[in-house]
Amino acid sequence: MTDSQHDLKEPLKKRLFDSISAQIDLIGYVPDDIAKLVKNFTFDTEVVGQSPADVEFARRSGKNADPDLTETSSDKDSLASQVNNYYDQAFYSRDGIMGILLGDTQYRNIGYWDETTTTQNQASERLQDALLDFIPEKSGRILDAACGMGASTRRLLNHYPAENIWAINISEKQIETTRSNAPGCNAQVMNAVDLKFDDDFFDNILCIEAAFHFETRRKFLEDAYRVLKPGGRLVLSDTLFTSRERLVQHAVFPSPENHIETAEEYRKLLSEVGFSDIIINDVSKDVWGAHFLHTVNKIHEEFYNGNLNIVQLTEILWTYYHLNSITGLCLFVSAQK
Ligand SMILES: C[S@@+](CC[C@H](N)C(=O)[O-])C[C@H]1O[C@@H](n2cnc3c(N)ncnc32)[C@H](O)[C@@H]1O
Repeated sequence: MTDSQHDLKEPLKKRLFDSISAQIDLIGYVPDDIAKLVKNFTFDTEVVGQSPADVEFARRSGKNADPDLTETSSDKDSLASQVNNYYDQAFYSRDGIMGILLGDTQYRNIGYWDETTTTQNQASERLQDALLDFIPEKSGRILDAACGMGASTRRLLNHYPAENIWAINISEKQIETTRSNAPGCNAQVMNAVDLKFDDDFFDNILCIEAAFHFETRRKFLEDAYRVLKPGGRLVLSDTLFTSRERLVQHAVFPSPENHIETAEEYRKLLSEVGFSDIIINDVSKDVWGAHFLHTVNKIHEEFYNGNLNIVQLTEILWTYYHLNSITGLCLFVSAQK
């Protein structure tokens, strides 16, 4: 080993260690599948203090004896700020891999892919168009619930005049971006589980890839039902996660009450709220499955071409393999009031 290689060895080891540690802290726990991968390895389990991940795990699971760390009535607020902290940072970062993966899109969903789809933007537009296909007559007022940065709000302008389009999100920062992406539309900061609209106000409601954050889906569906006109349609895409326990452990997800694992449970919930003519399509393979493969291929291509280094490759693979381990069904839902 040359001197300069030797000088690199320790910083590189530290960098890889820090990178993987950060991923494990982000996950907040060790998923079963990862635990299985290391099952024959013995760790020194002596605990020296609690890591931030341990504290967060204890707080959300209510397992810590310290009363300051158990669930409190301010949890809903803390959920909103956790979600905003996460997305307001993640959505606006275009450093390195994020820029490569996102391309020029202002959408922030994983898209709906087929063999002709080559970019994230095409996949996200295709997803929105597939949902809008459930709405036979695109007229009257429409709400884009959890509009992100307003790419979907902007695309609604292909069908609706700006004054008939409303967009809401819990993030002030994303609403500002929506205002510039979709000028003239009615963009407001609002929680999707506390809609400040009159009864029977909207002809249709669109909600792309956000309901898994809502405290709770049922509350959102009840409110959506209330503000829809009779005969109006709610169309949404949603992702279900693989275990109730995992939802509790992740800071950007609400309480386990929001956990749904099957399309049948989703249908039951919608019909309990009052919706009829319910259509639920399982699109998992063409949503998460295709996004996962596209991303993993893309980053290997970038690595092969020398645009990503081993640390960046490792970080994004950890994130994607972790997400894959917690992602269940991806659904398209259409339901009528
Ligand atoms: C995965 S992103 C999807 C964004 C957008 N629909 C799109 O497709 O580009 C999830 C979005 O849900 C928003 N969100 C999460 N919880 C919310 C809530 N309770 N009320 C309104 N928006 C919420 C987040 O701020 C984020 O913009």
